Amino acid sequence: SRGIHIHPSILSADFARLAEELARIRNADAVHVDVMDNHFVPNLTLGLPVVQAIRRATELPLDVHLMIQDADRWAPDYAEAGAESVTFHAEAAGAPIRLARELRSHGAKAGMALKPATAVEPYLDMLEELDLLLLMTVEPGFGGQPFLDVVLPKIRRAREALDGSGVPVALQVDGGVTRDTIMRAAEAGADVFVAGSAVYGAEDPEAAIDELRSAPLR
Ligand code: DX5
Ligand code: ZN
Repeated sequence: SRGIHIHPSILSADFARLAEELARIRNADAVHVDVMDNHFVPNLTLGLPVVQAIRRATELPLDVHLMIQDADRWAPDYAEAGAESVTFHAEAAGAPIRLARELRSHGAKAGMALKPATAVEPYLDMLEELDLLLLMTVEPGFGGQPFLDVVLPKIRRAREALDGSGVPVALQVDGGVTRDTIMRAAEAGADVFVAGSAVYGAEDPEAAIDELRSAPLR
């Protein structure tokens, strides 16, 4: 089996107490860090100095999700900051193949994200350039939105292409992941699940992570 990886999003954590919030998700597979620039998405979160501080505050791998314009220019800095993976949006990258190669040359896994209405087909020939493909299951910008089932067929098509080509690319979903929707996303072929409100909205985030991890197996 592909396995189920849970990446809590600190977007739903208390930004004034990040170190404590990171200590509440010790059983996570990585911590998902949402960088927003108020241009690519209508919201502003954090940037490089905070990612560097998070890097020092946890031993968890950092899964950085860049929702910023001009990703070509800024993404390599996040690889330099020690992120395990850096994910840029295809819609915001001028030269995605060159950028993916640059991220790998900086020692990071190269991730590429697609908004819900962006087709995956134009990118199927560049899968070998990637370590991670993120299919957004909400419009990027905010936590707490409902999962878009309309993305499920795209997840299935991406899974078929990945299995057919044999390239080892993680298939990540982000947005509206709950104990309910994670089953549909896993059935469609996703194997990495970002969860913000489902983890940090819970009384016990580590128990919520365990419940999400076991949900698709039930
Ligand atoms: C949304 C972010 C997500 C967000 C998910 O643009 O990319 O990572 O934190 O939050 P939930 O799990 O609450 O939908
Ligand atoms: Zn995200």
